[in-house]
Amino acid sequence: MSLEVRPLHDLFGAEVVGVDATRPMTAEEFAPIMDAFETYSVLLFRGPVMTDAQQIALSEHFGVVQVAFKANQTGGSMFSRQSNINFETNEIFPADHHRMTFLKANMLWHSDSSYMDCGSLCSILASREVPPSGGNTEVVSTRAAYERLPHDLKNRIEDLTVVHSLSYARDKMDMSILTDEQRDAAPPVKHPLVQVNPANGKKSMLIGAHAAFIDGWSEEDSRDLLDELVEHSTPQESIYSHAWQNGDAIVWDNRCILHRATPFESTKYRRHLERTTITDRSWVAAA
Ligand code: OGA
Ligand code: MN
Repeated sequence: MSLEVRPLHDLFGAEVVGVDATRPMTAEEFAPIMDAFETYSVLLFRGPVMTDAQQIALSEHFGVVQVAFKANQTGGSMFSRQSNINFETNEIFPADHHRMTFLKANMLWHSDSSYMDCGSLCSILASREVPPSGGNTEVVSTRAAYERLPHDLKNRIEDLTVVHSLSYARDKMDMSILTDEQRDAAPPVKHPLVQVNPANGKKSMLIGAHAAFIDGWSEEDSRDLLDELVEHSTPQESIYSHAWQNGDAIVWDNRCILHRATPFESTKYRRHLERTTITDRSWVAAA
């Protein structure tokens, strides 16, 4: 099957046309989708709104679905719910509810699960109910950003190790957001700052809100470099901003894409997306 792709941005991203991602796929049908994923880093599917089971089926083609971190409304399941709706009452959360603080934390550029040892191959964020305006999800490529780094900066970061920490990221927002138990469940982890895609050798940077320190560096030096790299990666013209329609599902490569949520009238409109986060099978096999 040859696949029709429509680029979303000059630097990365493609809409996959003519594939209904809610339908079961054979491994053969999935293969060109995986190729497109390695090439474009972000894939958009438009179709009917997915059920949870359909989203899991699509996710399992990419790898092993992670169990969501406990702090999420759906913690312990395979879904991380991105929503301003309280599913116990079906009402929108009040503006001062702690869930609304979590939603704000998503507005910092980040890579999902980078604070976990296994990291993540990709996330799939699929719409269930979207607001009429606002609440775009923005994505940017650290592969494209790496390619335009000055030569000396490439050399400087080549062998660095970066420490990612969930509590570091959340404390920057609000010290009270995580419980001690949640903190203990997510100790800091180390990753190579420069990631190499095994399928095509392309390099990218694993940075964003969870990136706390460069291993062995002071907090100040770490911040200077990590902030500089995020800034370099996220100029306006390098961002693809996705305005959600019902039925959209986006896959992004967490090894080379940073993403963030953007504001919407969250006390007025309902917004509900479900995310699955997927670990590379080769990591699971090696562990
Ligand atoms: C996520 C995320 C952004 C959004 O699901 O991981 O960061 O726009 N979502 O909801
Ligand atoms: Mn996220």
